[in-house]
This record gives sequence, C-alpha cells and structure tokens, in this order.
Amino acid sequence: MSPVASQRKRHALEMFAPLPGSYDEVAAAFSFWQDPRWRRAAVAAVGAAPEDRVLDVACGTGLVSAALVGRWGCRVVGLDQSAAMLARARARIEADPALAARISLVEGEAERLPFGDGEFDHLTFTYLLRYVDDPAATLRELGRVVKPGGRVASLEFGLPRGAWLWPWRLYTRAGLPALGRLVSRGWYDAGRFLGPSIERLDRELPLPRQLELWATAGIGRVEARQMSLGGGVVIWGTVGG
Ligand SMILES: C[S@@+](CC[C@H](N)C(=O)[O-])C[C@H]1O[C@@H](n2cnc3c(N)ncnc32)[C@H](O)[C@@H]1O
Repeated sequence: MSPVASQRKRHALEMFAPLPGSYDEVAAAFSFWQDPRWRRAAVAAVGAAPEDRVLDVACGTGLVSAALVGRWGCRVVGLDQSAAMLARARARIEADPALAARISLVEGEAERLPFGDGEFDHLTFTYLLRYVDDPAATLRELGRVVKPGGRVASLEFGLPRGAWLWPWRLYTRAGLPALGRLVSRGWYDAGRFLGPSIERLDRELPLPRQLELWATAGIGRVEARQMSLGGGVVIWGTVGG
C-alpha cells in the first residue's frame, strides 16, 4: 500500500472490510441475480488457453478468478488491495483442490502492479474504476503487464437510460440502503454508496470516454456490451490490437 492512501482508497478499504463473509450472495441478490451473468460475459470475453496466465485485478472474494479457471482451465493470479476480501478468496480456493492448483493470490494495488511488463497473457478487472483516483493512469498500468495480443476484459456497473433511469434511481437510493440495513451495518453503508458512485462514474467517465481511455492505454479493438438495460457493462479489447 502506498504510504499516503487517498480518501477514495481509504474509504474503499473500510467499506469492503466487513463485507466478504456475505459478499457473494448479497451482491448477487442486490442485482436481482444479474451480476453473476455479467461476470460470466466478462470471463467469456477473455478466451484464454489452459497454459495461459491471467491476472484478475480487484479479484475480491475470487469469483472471477474461479470462473476463469472453470471456463478456460488457465492459471490465475488474483490481486486485490483488501486483505479481508482476499481472505475470503483464499478460503474459497483452499476448499477446492482444482482451484488451489491454478490460482494464487496477491495483496496489491491496481495503480502499482507488482509485476513486470508483459508478464501476463490476459487480464480481467471487475468493479474497479470507481475506486481509483486516476482511471487513465490505472488503465495504462493494467495494459502494461499484458503481452501484446493479450485480452483485457472488464465489468463495471452502468446507468440505465430512458424510462429505466428513474426506477433504477429509486432502487439505488431507497431500495439498496433499506435492503442493506436488513443485512448489516456494512451493507447499509455499501448500499448508500453504490448509486451515487455509479452515477459519478457515468458523469465523469461516460462509456464513450472510457473506451477512449482504453485506446489511449494501448488496448485496441475495444468492444462494449451493455447488459440488463445498461446496469452492467462488459468491455474487452486486445493489447496492441
Ligand atoms: C465490488 S468488489 C468486486 C470484487 C470482484 N471483482 C467481483 O466481481 O465480485 C471491488 C473490489 O475492488 C477492490 N479494489 C478497489 N480498489 C482497488 C485497487 N486500487 N487495487 C486493487 N483492488 C482494489 C476492492 O478491495 C474490492 O475487493
């Protein structure tokens, strides 16, 4: 961890600390079971071979890392800045010898990856960009560690357009905090944070701008798929492509 963590980073670390035990189930339920589907789409976009090494950034409790192994049989390094989320990922991996043989975990930051240039065949990152101060620099750092020709695939929340925006706003402003309160104090805080955080990303970095940043980071042939009325956005591209 950098010695001077930004307010945004400190908040992310505090917010995720109490969530890992219930994260998988609650995150799925709060998205009306859409987010497992979005994750599958991001994993499908990677197209790894069994001998490939994939870096899964912001791996959290290891859902994407495990899905990468399940879908492609590849090796995975899961990286996250939260020791608490990584502990849950470790428990998942240790409980399954097939995962334990293919996945290793590293505590680290997306902004400063502890890896050399082109060390990985492919890379995934999910729900990361809202937590970094400089998305453009972070995207460059993510692209740096992938070999030319390697795939980068991501998943982020999006903002539904048109008639769905107001029901979505009502759900994220009132529904999510209320549901969160039923689960725990930590989920109440996360529930209150999520809607405004998604809207801020959409305001500061609308999808066309995100795609430009991918290109500026040296990731070409970038495509995006908006899922569930735009609530989930999968983006993928090829380094040097
Ligand atoms: C909403 S969770 C998503 C976890 C997982 N990717 C998934 O699909 O369930 C966001 C994760 O990003 C991690 N994270 C946030 N900022 C990060 C950063 N700068 N570097 C590494 N991990 C970060 C958090 O610790 C958290 O585990």
